[in-house]
Amino acid sequence: MPYTPVWYMRQAGRSLPEYRRVREGIEMLTACATPDLVAEITLQPVRRYGTDAAIFFSDIVVPLRAIGVDVDIKPNVGPVMGAPVRDRAGVAALRPLEPDDVPYVTEAVRALTKELGGTPLIGFAGGPFTLASYLIEGGPSKNHDRTKAMMYGEPDLWHELMDRLTEITLGFLRVQADAGASVTQLFDSWVGAVAPQDYRTYVLPHTKKIFEGLAGLGVPRIHFGVGTGELLGLLGEAGADVVGVDWRVPLDEAAVRVGAGKALQGNLDPAILHAPWEVIEGRARDVLDRGRVAEGHVFNLGHGVLPSTDPGQLERLTDLVHEASAR
Ligand code: CP3
Repeated sequence: MPYTPVWYMRQAGRSLPEYRRVREGIEMLTACATPDLVAEITLQPVRRYGTDAAIFFSDIVVPLRAIGVDVDIKPNVGPVMGAPVRDRAGVAALRPLEPDDVPYVTEAVRALTKELGGTPLIGFAGGPFTLASYLIEGGPSKNHDRTKAMMYGEPDLWHELMDRLTEITLGFLRVQADAGASVTQLFDSWVGAVAPQDYRTYVLPHTKKIFEGLAGLGVPRIHFGVGTGELLGLLGEAGADVVGVDWRVPLDEAAVRVGAGKALQGNLDPAILHAPWEVIEGRARDVLDRGRVAEGHVFNLGHGVLPSTDPGQLERLTDLVHEASAR
């Protein structure tokens, strides 16, 4: 590529008026199971911004719902479980995901890869800690207290739950890759809540298994979490090709922490998009400069696009990244 590639986490979604229009009166998980709508929403930001990748429109709880978990996405709240998973029976009910459980995913990915031509489609899944937290807490959580109570107090049950989530996640990523997705990203968004020694004991064995399981598919693997400054080395150790970095650690420092042989993705603070353009431009150039230290850089935000973002600023930012990194 003649410039640094750029896409944005949550580039599809509420910041776009065309998204709000097509989603009117349709529940989030219904939208995720409607291939025409999934394809349209996935393409919207690529059309508008000219990003170098599309990210499949879905959600991290889609594979859980597909295997029978009673989960809903409540507007302005997030995923909410009908019955939180807190004991052996709850864990035992989590069966592996088969391609037949998500025919709408296969159909939408196929249509999209055709439509996108040379633009890569990024498939994704939630990371096991993040999924475990939603299942155990029953919804979004600040402190992940029940999650950690199981992790520390019932380690056997914890590892059994993580084993099952690892299988489900691998199944979901395989379906997307088999249908044509050419990149995968694991969003372990809330794993920054655990200390490095606990990541090593309670999470790393599972994320390692996920990236090993993906190795045969021949798709680049991205690994991302929020607040993971102290975990960057471990996220690299888990086996991904690219480590996503939030805005709290500059990319030149992140390159040292992640270690040799990995590319980095990130890491403009999503809130900076609410600043005047001159500020956005200065900070974006700084991200590009620091990213040159890494062995490969994919420009992105440090987390998802905020719903209050002006799409015009993302359009300008995409052009700036392409111009400023041209070689
Ligand atoms: O463009 C993209 O990035 C693809 C779309 C995408 C969605 N969810 C669509 C969505 C992706 C990659 C996700 C992953 C996801 N879902 C994560 C990991 C990424 C991250 O942000 O850290 C997490 C933690 C979830 C769980 C979840 N789903 C939350 C916290 C919310 C927000 C709830 C709210 O309304 O504030 C959702 C719902 C959701 N997922 C929306 C979208 C566009 C909003 C729902 C709507 O438009 O009605």
